[in-house]
Amino acid sequence: MSKTFYIETFGCQMNAHDSEKVIGTLEHEGYTRVEDEAEAGLILYNTCSIRDKAEQKVFHRLNEYKRLQGEGKKFAVLGCVAQQEGERIFEKAPYVSLVAGSASYRNLPQMIERLEAGETRITGLDDRQTDQTFDTEFTVRSNPHRGYITIIEGCDKFCAYCVVPYTRGKERSRTSASVLVEARRMADLGYTDVQLLGQNVNSWRDPSGRMSFAELLTAVGSIGGIRRVRFTTSHPRDFTRDIVEAIDATPTLCDHIHLPVQSGSSAVLHAMSREYTRDWYLERMSWIHGAARDISITSDMIVGFPGETDADFEQTITLIDTVKYDSIFAFKFSPRPNTPAIHMADSIPDVVKSERLRILNDRQREIQREHYARHLGQVVEVMVEGANEARHQVTGRSSQNKTVNFTTAALAAVPPVGSYLDVRITQTLPNSLVGEADSGAVPFLPVQRTPDFVVLN
Ligand code: SAH
Ligand code: SF4
Ligand code: F3S
Repeated sequence: MSKTFYIETFGCQMNAHDSEKVIGTLEHEGYTRVEDEAEAGLILYNTCSIRDKAEQKVFHRLNEYKRLQGEGKKFAVLGCVAQQEGERIFEKAPYVSLVAGSASYRNLPQMIERLEAGETRITGLDDRQTDQTFDTEFTVRSNPHRGYITIIEGCDKFCAYCVVPYTRGKERSRTSASVLVEARRMADLGYTDVQLLGQNVNSWRDPSGRMSFAELLTAVGSIGGIRRVRFTTSHPRDFTRDIVEAIDATPTLCDHIHLPVQSGSSAVLHAMSREYTRDWYLERMSWIHGAARDISITSDMIVGFPGETDADFEQTITLIDTVKYDSIFAFKFSPRPNTPAIHMADSIPDVVKSERLRILNDRQREIQREHYARHLGQVVEVMVEGANEARHQVTGRSSQNKTVNFTTAALAAVPPVGSYLDVRITQTLPNSLVGEADSGAVPFLPVQRTPDFVVLN
């Protein structure tokens, strides 16, 4: 049981992909992954601290783990809570032996050796010091068709509310050559959908000076076998027009941009240290709206930031009316340790935050109900993700990242997961599209591969 591990992941896509890299690293060290914590010698928890609720989940889970401590198991806390709380985790949960933030994962093999040697207070805590990125050829991706590539780690933006610059270290980019090698390898293995990741993906700067971010997108999209390239999350401050031009010029670049605005009020944006105004953001929206392709736009919002007045909030509502997002993720402001906003009075009562969140989500739902209707009668290409047998439907995703549920009566066989085909949209809902496989549709089938190939090496 000693060389078995169980891992649980919370948080964003960066964390999900970090876990894929951690899994590959541990397997390379001779460990076997198990799906049940009771069977594992080592239990890892990859954590998130973006909002208080997310952090509370971690300590709740650690308390649940406690019952397993007598069985000789070892515990490791990774990720953003690890970096934020550091050695305090040993006090709160003395049975934890390893606490490591994401900027130290490159040293995981050494930390694991020390763990095996019996050390019980191992830390990998980087306080914005490292220049290293965590690139590994041992990544074990959970999906054989669609996969992430981290192109930039950390964040130097220091928005007033946000823990990420403290939990993920300083901003550091990979070279274009190393990103392209990884994308090429994925394409060779049969991956068709590649998602470039970074806390601020478009802040990527090629350390070798060869390419701009838009050129990197085009280069990844030009790799034979790659049919879809996504990138997330973009920051308005670094959003340049050539990104829109690249999408227009390159069909493999998905017609979707996630560009979090956080608030529609310039005063609130200023207090948040977002370093742009409402007008600056709307100018970028006009570039996207002016594109030849129908580019879907999504966003994140925070309601109830300290000092947000009714008039400020109203500006967020008028902003979503203007932009017509295809979806938003809206959150109540949560005061976080180490951030400048923790020193501002959390002035908006929780009932007001909840009410604003409700109004925002209700309005957005109406916008989506109207805005999704533009797809009625269109033929969209869908990547198949699975089947809903009870409803006799196949489910998949459009280039715009919308869920499409469709019937396949016109086809000789149900298309397998990972294939692409054209679907005619017959009904639109606020959060998804419904359709039927086009009678002339010839599915593009996923490449066959043996399980060995799932591990990149
Ligand atoms: N780098 C991205 C966002 C990463 S965090 C960007 O700058 O846009 C993901 C989202 O969590 C943020 O967009 C924000 O909406 C939300 N968030 C971050 N800190 C928060 C906090 N303290 N309270 C509430 N929401 C928060
Ligand atoms: Fe957080 Fe701002 Fe950095 Fe995004 S840009 S990760 S919100 S500090
Ligand atoms: Fe959470 Fe860290 Fe991601 S705080 S959202 S896991 S960067």
